[in-house]
This record gives sequence, structure tokens and C-alpha cells, in this order.
Amino acid sequence: MTQWNRALVTGASSGIGLAMANQLAGDGTELVVVARDQARLEALAESVDVSCEVLVADLSDRDALAMVEDRLAATGADAIDLCVNNAGFGNIGPFRTLDRDRETDVVEVNIVALHRLSHAAATAMVAAGGPGGILNVSSMATWLATPNTATYNATKAFVTLFSDILHAELKPEGIHVSALCPGLTRTEFQDRAGYDATGVPAMAWQTAEEVAAAGLAGVASNTPVVIPGAKNQAAIGLLNSLPMRLRRPLVSRLAN
Ligand SMILES: NC(=O)c1ccc[n+]([C@@H]2O[C@H](COP(=O)([O-])OP(=O)(O)OC[C@H]3O[C@@H](n4cnc5c(N)ncnc54)[C@H](OP(=O)(O)O)[C@@H]3O)[C@@H](O)[C@H]2O)c1
Repeated sequence: MTQWNRALVTGASSGIGLAMANQLAGDGTELVVVARDQARLEALAESVDVSCEVLVADLSDRDALAMVEDRLAATGADAIDLCVNNAGFGNIGPFRTLDRDRETDVVEVNIVALHRLSHAAATAMVAAGGPGGILNVSSMATWLATPNTATYNATKAFVTLFSDILHAELKPEGIHVSALCPGLTRTEFQDRAGYDATGVPAMAWQTAEEVAAAGLAGVASNTPVVIPGAKNQAAIGLLNSLPMRLRRPLVSRLAN
């Protein structure tokens, strides 16, 4: 597996990003961890056996985002060779009923921040002559036109297609790019989104550690789109094999 020297991980204060940071540190990769919750990031930095820089940033704020872009542009001994764009969130409910500013923040964090950080990372990694990696955390929502999640699902469709195209563009430069498309994963995501997951069967869930490991293996092997878990792969394979006229009503029914 590819050994990275230093990884920048956004959304490293909880869930999948925290699991990735711990797994990378376990492999001896130095860390730059990004999120809003300073106390959690500092606890992470203290708990790992590698150098770990803490960058407190609200990625919906363009000034804070610019600071993270600048960190990705560093060269020489400060260079970052793996950028993990993991921070993200969603809101559940009919689009017109959701808070407009909070919905815009979903676009800012899930798309704009990921887009700008991918650009900063790719520019620095190509200038350094590679190798490098960009792992963009998307979602199985990419393929689900489910009511009540319009903004979130559409942001993830962007992330998956954008990353798949970057994968092809950057392959000749020796830069790996992968989109990680998890299904239901036990993290703080559902509480933050206001999603009541009590009725979801246990078999539908994966752990943050399983998903993180699949994503890191995927970017190491330069797999363009990674769907963690055999059940999730089978579900998306089946769904995508159906004509659109059958897929749309099936997905709508699953969501209700
Ligand atoms: N859990 C699932 O079922 C699932 C399924 C598919 C895809 N995903 C994706 O997986 C990724 C990680 O989510 P998770 O499941 O691990 O959820 P989580 O436990 O809620 O973690 C989300 C992370 O994103 C950070 N974040 C959120 N808003 C931010 C902002 N404005 N600025 C900076 N950081 C911000 C949070 O840190 P702070 O609060 O400290 O800022 C936190 O570290 C997301 O992109 C999500 O869309 C999750």
C-alpha cells in the first residue's frame, strides 16, 4: 500500500475523518487535521504517535478556507502528499422548508471547499512532481434521487463526477484521485442532519473504521470510485442497471 508522508484530513474531529486520521497515524503518516472543534482536534493530536498540526477552520468561511489552501501549497519539508476532503454535512427535509443559509453552507462545505482544496492540492502535488493523492468523501447518495435530501445528494453527485474526472486528468502526473461513496455509517452525521435512523436495520450500517479503511485502500490503489461494503456495491450495481423510469419510483419508495 502507498505510504504517505503527510496527510491533510478535513473533518478529522469525528466519524470517518477521525478514523482515517487514526489509521494514517498508525501507518506512520504525519497529519494536518482540520475542523471547527479545536478541543477535539487537540485531543486527537495528543493521542497519536506522529506529528499532528491542528488547523481550526470553518470551511464554509472563505477566509478560513484560504488558510487551509495556503497550507496545502507548502513545499519541501512542509509538503502534503495526501489531501483527504472529508468534511461534510446535510439537512433533511423538503427543500423549501429548510433554512436557506444552512442549505448554502452545505454547498460551501461539500462542494466549494472540496473543489478549492482539490485545486490547491493538485497544483502543489504536480509542481512537486508527484506522487500524491486526493481522497474526496462523497456518498452513495450520488445515485439516489430521494425526496427531502435534494441539496445534500446533489452535492455528492458533484463530488463523485468531479473526482472521477480529476482521476483521469491526474493519473499521468502520478497523482491518485478517488471518490469514497459510503452508505449508512455510524457517526454523528445522522444527528447533525436531523435524521431519525431508529428504524434502519443493523445490517445496513458500517462502522467509520470500515469506511475509512476502504477509502484509504482505494486512494492507495488509485481506484476512481470506491463503494465500501459488498451489500452497498450490489445495491448500487442493481439500481444503476435499471432504466430511469423504474429507478426513480423505486428510489422514492425506499426513501419513505
Ligand atoms: N455517516 C454516513 O452515513 C455517511 C454516508 C455517506 C457519506 N458520508 C460523508 O462522510 C463525511 C464525514 O461525515 P461523518 O459521517 O464522519 O459525519 P460526522 O461525524 O458528523 O463528521 C463530520 C465532520 O465534518 C466536519 N465539518 C462539518 N462542517 C464543517 C465546517 N463547516 N467546517 C469544517 N469542518 C466541518 C465536522 O467537524 P466540526 O464539527 O468539528 O467542524 C466533523 O469532523 C461527510 O462528507 C459525509 O457527507 C457520511
